[in-house]
Amino acid sequence: MNKAVDPALMQAAEQLGAATGNQKLDAYWMPFTANRQFKKSPRLFVKAAGMHYWTDEGRQILDGVAGLWCVNAGHARPRIVQAIQDQAAEMDFAPPFQMAHPKAFELADKVSKLTPAGLNKVFFTNSGSESVETALKMALAYHRVRGEGTRTRLIGRERGYHGVNFGGISVGGMVANRKQFGTMLAGVDHLRHTHDPARNAFSIGQPEHGAELAEDLERMVALHDASTIAAVIVEPVAGSTGVLVPPKGYLNKLREICDKHGILLIFDEVITGFGRTGNPFASQTFGVTPDMIVMAKGLTNGSVPMGAVAVKQHIHDAFMNGPEHLIEFMHGYTYSAHPLACAAGLGTLATYEDEGLLTRASQMADYFAQAVHSLRGEPNVIDIRNIGLVGGVELAPLPGEPAKRAFNIFLDCYERGVLLRTTGDTVALSPPLIIERGQIDQLVDTLRGSIRRNS
Ligand SMILES: Cc1ncc(COP(=O)(O)O)c(C=O)c1O
Repeated sequence: MNKAVDPALMQAAEQLGAATGNQKLDAYWMPFTANRQFKKSPRLFVKAAGMHYWTDEGRQILDGVAGLWCVNAGHARPRIVQAIQDQAAEMDFAPPFQMAHPKAFELADKVSKLTPAGLNKVFFTNSGSESVETALKMALAYHRVRGEGTRTRLIGRERGYHGVNFGGISVGGMVANRKQFGTMLAGVDHLRHTHDPARNAFSIGQPEHGAELAEDLERMVALHDASTIAAVIVEPVAGSTGVLVPPKGYLNKLREICDKHGILLIFDEVITGFGRTGNPFASQTFGVTPDMIVMAKGLTNGSVPMGAVAVKQHIHDAFMNGPEHLIEFMHGYTYSAHPLACAAGLGTLATYEDEGLLTRASQMADYFAQAVHSLRGEPNVIDIRNIGLVGGVELAPLPGEPAKRAFNIFLDCYERGVLLRTTGDTVALSPPLIIERGQIDQLVDTLRGSIRRNS
């Protein structure tokens, strides 16, 4: 359903558009973007509110991906905006090393109340990638401080995405993100991914088949010995490689094997955190508690960069040894717990709480699932996957041109007022958690038309 466009917003967008229209596009080397294609045909947003963006031409675009899986409460929410404005005026920065400010503690406390029981220590970073590095370093250092310094091996998974820093791409499993960057970290191994369309295509929610793939970890223990393995990191739902929902029982089995061998289990919840699957964290949706949770994005509703790692008490406590004046964990960022980010985080969590957003995906999940699965049977749709308010629609690639069909669909939907995201030939949907049924219809119907036009 298209909300009526507020004329004042339109005017503001047009004025901003006129300004951006004169800008030179040369200097900015854009991240994860087809730069040459973009600069020939730029797509610029100049305003956002609620479920929508406005382009520099004044067009209203329905946000089908919460910006980049982060704007879970929708755009420009008043409590978040106010919190950031007030904080900027009150105190711009406080050094996070050997000093602090009250909102850092307040936010850590609030986050620790949302995480599964026992994960009650929170370390702040500025992004998902930094949170991943932090968790991996914590895992290595944890074993070392306990006298098990031989545990240096890290296990990731094929098709995993853990950000773009060296630790993250090493444990990650996206070929394109790895192949340009040399040898990466040594001592990393990968579980097989769980994508199995032959057995699981068009599963609604968690697929039936594939729990046994967790046994790969037993094989790695047999190959390397448990005494060399520090941690396993997986996304509970792999997002960036096309919305891969874990098979029933898979995560439980990983947990069991980790426990059996003293291996830490890290869940990367950068996209699943903060309500995406119907609970604050996907760990709660799937009933499996890891030793560490990596988060970012929804923590501040995408408004100010921030990430965090939540860890179990005993992991933190293992570091609290030795002379009290010495630093226990040699790690941190200038902008860890930045005051603006903490204020944004507090405004965000208050918004989630006021509006019940962290469980709203569970109420919308059936409607969303039906809508997304109604695309089954459309031309070239070879699989559809969903959980909570995430959907993945996989398309048969154009012969000899992988990823092009989905990219064309992305451009076509954008022209028709809907923002989606694509990875390979999968279209991902992850709208803000405030989405209404009519907007789900708009999203899916626009995609349907586009799939047909691109058949
Ligand atoms: C699962 C996962 N981990 C890590 C990251 C990296 O986060 P950032 O881009 O904030 O560094 C992402 C980003 O999409 C992600 O999806």
